[in-house]
Amino acid sequence: MKKLYHLCAALAFSCLIINVASAQEDVIDKKVDSVMAKMTLAEKIGQMNQYNGDWEATGPVTKDVGNKLDEIRQGRVGAVLNIMGTNHVKTFQDAAMQSRLKIPLLFGQDVIHGYRITFPIPLAEACSWDVDMIEKSERVAATEASASGINWTFSPMVDIARDPRWGRVMEGAGEDPYLGSLIAAARVRGFQGRGLGNTDAVMACAKHFAAYGAAIGGRDYNSVDMSLHTLWQYYLPPFKAAADAGVATFMNSFNDLNGTPATASIYLQREVLKRDWNFKGFVVSDWGSIGEMINHGYAKDNYEAAQQAVSAGNDMDMESRSYINNLEKLVKDQKVSFSLIDDAVARILRKKFEMGLFDDPYRFINPQREKSSLNLPASQDVARDMAHKSIVLLKNDKQLLPLSDNLKTVALIGPLVKAKKELKGFWSLDIDPNENIPSVMDALQKQHPQTQFLFSYGCNIDDQSKAGFADAVATAKKAGVVVMVMGEAPDMTGEAKSKSNIHLPGVQEELIKEIVATGKPVVVIMMAGRPMVFNWTADNVPSILYAWWLGSQGGNAIADVLYGAYNPSGKLPITFPRTEGQIPIYYNHLNTGRPASGDKDVFYKSAYIDLPNSPQYAFGHGLSYTTFQYIDDDTYYTKTTLKDNDVLNISFTLKNTGNYAGEETVQLYIRDMVSQPLRPVKELKDFKKVFLQPGESRRVTFSVNRDMLMFYDDNLKLITQPGDFQVMIGSASDDIRIKRAFELTN
Ligand code: BGC
Repeated sequence: MKKLYHLCAALAFSCLIINVASAQEDVIDKKVDSVMAKMTLAEKIGQMNQYNGDWEATGPVTKDVGNKLDEIRQGRVGAVLNIMGTNHVKTFQDAAMQSRLKIPLLFGQDVIHGYRITFPIPLAEACSWDVDMIEKSERVAATEASASGINWTFSPMVDIARDPRWGRVMEGAGEDPYLGSLIAAARVRGFQGRGLGNTDAVMACAKHFAAYGAAIGGRDYNSVDMSLHTLWQYYLPPFKAAADAGVATFMNSFNDLNGTPATASIYLQREVLKRDWNFKGFVVSDWGSIGEMINHGYAKDNYEAAQQAVSAGNDMDMESRSYINNLEKLVKDQKVSFSLIDDAVARILRKKFEMGLFDDPYRFINPQREKSSLNLPASQDVARDMAHKSIVLLKNDKQLLPLSDNLKTVALIGPLVKAKKELKGFWSLDIDPNENIPSVMDALQKQHPQTQFLFSYGCNIDDQSKAGFADAVATAKKAGVVVMVMGEAPDMTGEAKSKSNIHLPGVQEELIKEIVATGKPVVVIMMAGRPMVFNWTADNVPSILYAWWLGSQGGNAIADVLYGAYNPSGKLPITFPRTEGQIPIYYNHLNTGRPASGDKDVFYKSAYIDLPNSPQYAFGHGLSYTTFQYIDDDTYYTKTTLKDNDVLNISFTLKNTGNYAGEETVQLYIRDMVSQPLRPVKELKDFKKVFLQPGESRRVTFSVNRDMLMFYDDNLKLITQPGDFQVMIGSASDDIRIKRAFELTN
């Protein structure tokens, strides 16, 4: 009875919440209607137009810029981007307040990994598999950005990417749809905080819709050719997760998908997003992507491009000027209906109301708040912790790490030992020109004043000169341990930064060989925006840390990890190939008719004769200074069945068998043994992060349910099929420790 009472109370409460939310929506809809009733067609079209500010450009700037402030005064602009800082934002909002209807502007910005404080690049953060931490990281970014006048971020990028040649692999969460979906939702929650309307919340934007990450050959902006099944099964889930998390906006993408530019895709924008997913926010084009449909050969001119984009559900034009210059005529020519325009404008105005901008257009413009919100010590602490969690220990064969405090002399060698601003990586906002970011060397010297740190540059990042080798070797010989800091330059990954050769650049690997030849113990730290290829190092260097671009606190975080103040816990969210020829290589592939049983099988598994089948480092890989034992002591479990809404509990004991406290990310994969269409050899379906003291054990229980077994059939309907399944629990996709089988019955 008591239970029933609680149930009714809970139901009544959720009905109340739904009613309040829909009442609020009604109120906003009425306000939108009343503003729209006063708007001319030209003013409506103005709301659908977004310009780059004059400060910074993140794409090719449209010529004939004219006077943007004047255009804003004329009501010809609804949003701007790349205008930062309350002072600057105010100038633009002042102009909007001089327009006839005083409709406030939106201020968009690529807040991709932090605002004033730079956080690790998104791919690095994804290595944490820590969604709460990632949410926290975006909370800091949103708090800082909103204090600087920004109310809209073009983030998160939720594109699945299986190709590390693609420069934008750094902006996403890697190759897995399950992990990618959790992270997408966490980022949306982080940016939008307690909800739009709070002054510390910024609108998030799920991008790039869709399949941009699957550009053929990893070449940025390239075409995508993909079955709808693959699209739905692997590429759309993070977008759906972002939509479900309440993301305010979507951005479409530069690529064409199966012959239609995403910007003109009725299927993606009108049918999937707005109809099937009931998305109430608005869609912005990517930078100039409407105009680029002329280059695609899809539209004859901007007039035609504007018609195609607006019909497809693209509500706002970023920088191509196709809408502002053509929509009025398109309406007059009856090529575009009033209702299409009204739908787009209502979506945009609704967000402006939700953010409270009509009540106070200056609510994000408070210089006092800006001063007191940026670069706070507590926020730097979050950035440092996020950086800790983003580092992946790829290898620690001789337990060389952590370094001992007793070491008298350590040689620091390599082109990135003294990297400071470079630690921020691509897509960082250089807001404070005087920002002093500690390098790895700075941090080590500060933390270990009793140790002598010797330095030698060794070589540049990307040229063929070996002039510095001799000094590097001599320096190494003077030290007890050598730490080499190697990698890419920060502008080698990012937008328009695809590479055909993703080997560690220049002569860096040759330098590593020379230093290893001295016989000194060597630790290599790799900094990069993408998975790189470094096979000799992987085979011959005992300890390797992958440190990506870790942001403002990168130097400190690396120093913490080197000496064990933080025990690394990162796990790769993307497969590291042995060489470019293996790409695309990803863990959740199909079995094929000739699966390989090992690395050397000939005539099996579409392998290459000159390479093993396996990658260099598999999805989910990442070590710790301690060791974890998976004790398979679930005596109650025999092969069993799962039916209806049953749950299958699988337990085991995880024990920290090493000498350090540490965190393991226990991963659960499932395989559907027989299915139509085919299912992958394994798919991540759950994971748990477990922190254990040395010697401590904990019972870990996973619950498998029917939802985890669903997949898209040939008609793109989510289904389950009865039959045999395998559950695999382990430390990485290639390090499975516990297996179970069960049958799903109808
Ligand atoms: C990128 C987007 C970005 C936009 C605005 C484009 O070139 O593809 O991701 O948000 O520029 O800077």
